[in-house]
Amino acid sequence: MWNERYGEEGYAYGAEPNDFVAEVVDQIPSGAVLCLAEGEGRNAVFLAERGYDVVAVDQSSVGLEKAQDLAASRGVSIDTVVADLTAFDYEPGRYAGIVSVWAHIPPEARQTVHARCVEALAPGGVMVLEAYTPSQVGRGTGGPPDPTMCMSAEDLRRELAGLTFDTLVEREREIHEGKYHNGVSSVVQMVARKEA
Ligand SMILES: C[S@@+](CC[C@H](N)C(=O)[O-])C[C@H]1O[C@@H](n2cnc3c(N)ncnc32)[C@H](O)[C@@H]1O
Repeated sequence: MWNERYGEEGYAYGAEPNDFVAEVVDQIPSGAVLCLAEGEGRNAVFLAERGYDVVAVDQSSVGLEKAQDLAASRGVSIDTVVADLTAFDYEPGRYAGIVSVWAHIPPEARQTVHARCVEALAPGGVMVLEAYTPSQVGRGTGGPPDPTMCMSAEDLRRELAGLTFDTLVEREREIHEGKYHNGVSSVVQMVARKEA
């Protein structure tokens, strides 16, 4: 499904970064940043333009090829890894930042991935996440049709135990990202830090 979507003309979620990532980017210390489920690379390229050393992982080879094209068109370089999030090699302590935008996977897999993220952050590292909450289902403005693929603030507090939550909020906001995310949406936003 994702290779098919990314095979369409243009960028499915646009070529500009997610609003929340752009808002909080300054809270990520300099260094290596891992972008989870990064698709066509809009957040990865934005971070590379700000000097971060970016690794973008996604299961879609078509998406990550477009991410490389976007990076080249903006004169920056990023590393891309085609992998399932549960099979990716998360190097403990490597990342100053982890960015997770709309990384909706089944809950058991998500719990595994989040536990690895806590380990993969360096001391002082920051994880930034925006995702749809279960109450988004049925709105028709974006996100998965299955509420179990969505996440709540409570899920994140439990799955990312060990981090300090500087921001953890469920809210409704207007989203306009490419042709697939448009309109008022129910989201959870998070900035969480691993104590130095
Ligand atoms: C809604 S898109 C978001 C893309 C990107 N984060 C953005 O904000 O533009 C969801 C992405 O999750 C990826 N994805 C879904 N399940 C995955 C999995 N198990 N492992 C790796 N990537 C996955 C898809 O390939 C797709 O690129």
